[in-house]
Amino acid sequence: MSLQVVILAAGKGTRMRSALPKVMQPLAGKPLLQHVISTAKTLGANEPIVVYGHGGELVQQHFQHETVTWVLQAEQKGTGHAVQVALSSLPTSGNSLILYGDVPLISLPTLSRLVSSVSTDKDLGLLTVNLPNPTGYGRIVREENQVVAIVEQKDANADQLKINEVNTGIMCVPNVLLHEWLPALKNNNAQGEYYLTDLIALANQAGITISAVQPDTLWEVEGVNDKVQLAALERVWQQAQAANLMRAGVTILDPNRVDIRGELSHGADVSLDVGVIIEGRVVLADNVIVSAGCVLKDCEIGAGTLIKPYSVIDSAVIGANAQIGPFARIRPGSKLADEVHIGNFVETKATQMGVGSKANHLAYLGDSVIGQGVNIGAGTITCNYDGANKHTTVIGDNAFIGTNNSLVAPVTIGAGATTGAGSTISKDVAPDTLAVGRAKQVAISGWTRPKKTVKSST
Ligand code: UD1
Ligand code: CA
Repeated sequence: MSLQVVILAAGKGTRMRSALPKVMQPLAGKPLLQHVISTAKTLGANEPIVVYGHGGELVQQHFQHETVTWVLQAEQKGTGHAVQVALSSLPTSGNSLILYGDVPLISLPTLSRLVSSVSTDKDLGLLTVNLPNPTGYGRIVREENQVVAIVEQKDANADQLKINEVNTGIMCVPNVLLHEWLPALKNNNAQGEYYLTDLIALANQAGITISAVQPDTLWEVEGVNDKVQLAALERVWQQAQAANLMRAGVTILDPNRVDIRGELSHGADVSLDVGVIIEGRVVLADNVIVSAGCVLKDCEIGAGTLIKPYSVIDSAVIGANAQIGPFARIRPGSKLADEVHIGNFVETKATQMGVGSKANHLAYLGDSVIGQGVNIGAGTITCNYDGANKHTTVIGDNAFIGTNNSLVAPVTIGAGATTGAGSTISKDVAPDTLAVGRAKQVAISGWTRPKKTVKSST
């Protein structure tokens, strides 16, 4: 049967206390709604319907690249009303799966079981859980073990309030039943809302088989209403990511202190220390060690390379057996070959470095093409920007750049050349020559230091 997914996302999210709409709040580096849309698509529902209300423009703009049908629910009159406004976009056959923009971690295996519990128009699948503390949730009312109704907290009597089985809100319903019943929902309840959950009693009366399916884990049906819940779910998700990586052989020194906000591909014996953050697509080859506090985004790192603490690497490719950091900043377009050493407070941007080249302390290397076996002295800066345009610095193999040089681009330093400490190099240097570009030291004898003037107190 064809499957349509309807994602309810019109709620205000007041308790987030944020200018950002609730469904745009990030979990694992992606908006809550992105998780739900991706899950819907993996289930085979290629054009999910998103019922939106608040912050609609921003949300739609962000999801431009996704094929999604947007339905505006201008006024939030309840979950039944939310699905009702989507009715005109729903086919008359097949099933609809109702998901929530603020229940981001609902899993595929659970949803697959729920969806397959509905095989005819006489079935309805409901995802329920048993909670030790069911306060706030709609209670699942059973008679002779059959689900007959859902009663909301505010409408429940004392006996019903004791029921521990609750409604997650997620359900799979034949479209024909939605078309028939949604327009007829009444709002004569404690909240004056149109309840989607009223469908259950209607289905029971009509002799529909209601299957209560339970999720694989509790956290996947948890909703996010405030930042405490958001952080709690983030941790759950991160622990699951860490567990998967560890099962695949990655050493994680403390699985509570690593954040995977993208995709990590890895070889054997990769190690991640505490405080490591992975964003975008990161590829780590065999034996890569990522030390404490490193942020790695969209990068590829070769086998045996050591990333020392507190280094930030973004959109870069680093070869094998290199050493980076501590406190290195490798910016977009950096291509560092095997055995390159980058030390503390060194920044590279759009720079290539050949095999075995080193910049061990306090340098800025931007828009540079650096050969093999080059040594960049401490404090060296490529002056790549003239205020209007960027220019390239080229340094040949085995060149030796002295300490504290300013290399004024465009400039080429030949292979095997040497520059003196403190030089400002603004003209090309021929291979195998020494260039010194600095003022000569002078000696002034008998010079006296300025003295402090004594201020009168009048
Ligand atoms: C709902 C269920 C309850 C269930 C609980 C699980 C109903 C009547 N009750 O209650 O049985 O235990 O979820 O969390 O369905 N929304 C809209 N438009 C609206 C109203 C809500 O899009 O007009 C969206 C909200 O953004 C939210 C979701 O639907 O994501 C749930 O709405 P909420 O008002 O929080 O429902 P609950 O009262 O928690
Ligand atoms: Ca809720």
